[in-house]
Amino acid sequence: VNDPGAFWDGVYGGSRDHVYGTEPNAFLRAQATRLPLRGRALSVADGEGRNGVWLAGQGLSVLTVDLSPRGIDKARRLAAVRGVALDARHGDVLERPWGDERFDVVASIFLHSPPPVRPRLHGVLADALAPGGLLVLEAFHRRQLGRGSGGPPSVDLLFTADLLRADFAGLSILQLEEAEVVLDEGAKHRGPAEVVRLVARRPE
Ligand SMILES: C[S@@+](CC[C@H](N)C(=O)[O-])C[C@H]1O[C@@H](n2cnc3c(N)ncnc32)[C@H](O)[C@@H]1O
Repeated sequence: VNDPGAFWDGVYGGSRDHVYGTEPNAFLRAQATRLPLRGRALSVADGEGRNGVWLAGQGLSVLTVDLSPRGIDKARRLAAVRGVALDARHGDVLERPWGDERFDVVASIFLHSPPPVRPRLHGVLADALAPGGLLVLEAFHRRQLGRGSGGPPSVDLLFTADLLRADFAGLSILQLEEAEVVLDEGAKHRGPAEVVRLVARRPE
């Protein structure tokens, strides 16, 4: 994909529905008791905003960033419908549109990138954490290749637990697992799927 922002605009603009639904990712939701009661959260590659909106509903002050302006528009509308404040900005995570700000929570849900970019992008996420801040990440595992329940079509874009352990070596890992789960997250993420799940904390 030469222009991923335009690609995702086509996906999100082609449907009035939210293609991954309006409910949060199940793994993110399962971290509810680990979240601080207040503070600042960053939801990267938030698409149409389902995860940023949910984090805002948990009492956090949320910045959502995505490459797709159409996704950002839908995220703002979802926040308005839900009655929560959401700062949703069009931008590239690699360019750190939040500047030097640090966050108490960073969520990265189904953000995939190829080897030259992936460790750099994950470095940006680790850097965005305040001391003690929590990272929650779910992505498709390499074993997902060719399965119809979601994910990118190239093995280069898929992850393993070992890759994540190396990328986030500076963080304390609370949970890291490869799992087969049953996704029910909109029309594009549905059915049995192979994922990698990580929860990690930046040391104080
Ligand atoms: C599979 S969708 C997941 C959307 C959302 N996280 C969810 O689970 O509903 C991947 C998203 O990553 C975004 N994305 C990919 N690379 C990005 C980057 N470098 N910066 C910001 N967004 C990016 C795309 O625009 C797309 O919305």
